[in-house]
Amino acid sequence: MSVSQLVRQLDLRNKDALDKVFAKQKFDAVIHFAGLKAVGESVHKPLIYFDNNLIGTIILFQVMAAHGCKKLVFSSSATVYGWPKEVPCTEEFPLKTTNPYGRTKLIIEEMCRDLHGSDSDWKIILLRYFNPVGAHPSGFIGEDPRGIPNNLMPFVQQVAVGRLPALTVFGNDYKTCDGTGVRDFIHVVDLADGHIAALRKLDDPKIGCEVYNLGTGKGTSVLEMVKAFEKASGKKIPLSMGDRRPGDAEIVYASTNKAEKELNWKAKHDIHDMCRDQWNWASKNPYGYGKSGDSSK
Ligand code: UD1
Repeated sequence: MSVSQLVRQLDLRNKDALDKVFAKQKFDAVIHFAGLKAVGESVHKPLIYFDNNLIGTIILFQVMAAHGCKKLVFSSSATVYGWPKEVPCTEEFPLKTTNPYGRTKLIIEEMCRDLHGSDSDWKIILLRYFNPVGAHPSGFIGEDPRGIPNNLMPFVQQVAVGRLPALTVFGNDYKTCDGTGVRDFIHVVDLADGHIAALRKLDDPKIGCEVYNLGTGKGTSVLEMVKAFEKASGKKIPLSMGDRRPGDAEIVYASTNKAEKELNWKAKHDIHDMCRDQWNWASKNPYGYGKSGDSSK
């Protein structure tokens, strides 16, 4: 079996299988994206999150170390800033999480700092994602959540294609321009480019364990985002105003100075590009990678 076939079927918690992959192929570095990410689910089923995200990561690090591969890019999240006291969030802000999913991100960040502290051969970049949205401009690759989407833009997309009747806006009494929550939405292609920049940075002999925000530095409200999507798609998104979602922060957006200066990376796409590419994916694949009526997809 080829390495790519082995990897496609692999669960990080299966140490023997992971070891075989590293034995078969020498890797210069690992980008570690594997993890569960639904905040609400993590509150109800924390052990699944600890098992999958933490145990999987520990085993990955053990196997990497055993095979002398000590360069890593890890997908962390802006969730580690909790409800920030001020914005933009800089990488030095105090860290706090409000749910088990976020806790796994923070624990893995701390594990990485300890790993580098114990052995300076480890070169690690932690990327704190803000709110990734959009799709590949080809329309072939996009997000396809199982069940009812938790996140704003996959939900909006499913309303636009007629799979869901209306978007519930979680709170319109925040102290923001229109009362709705403000986030830093970033195009997935910019996010992907951020990983390439991080991989390049790992070649810098001075790098230890560093953290960078991946965002645009701009805040956009829920209603502004919905309007941008309506414009891109030509579809009306019916809205109903609901209560605040527990655990949601009011305004979260990134300071991008550190990534711009040290990674030489800056997001290029605005919310109109994000909505255009997301609609392109949605209109070509209204049921994602599954078929119409397949509720498991
Ligand atoms: C959440 C997680 C974050 C995770 C990210 C991507 C927290 C608090 N949030 O970010 O860690 O990395 O998802 O998976 O840990 N909204 C609605 N109606 C909806 C859905 C969302 O109004 O149906 C609003 C929310 O209240 C929020 C904004 O849209 O103001 C963005 O929500 P969402 O897309 O879920 O992302 P976050 O909560 O910011």
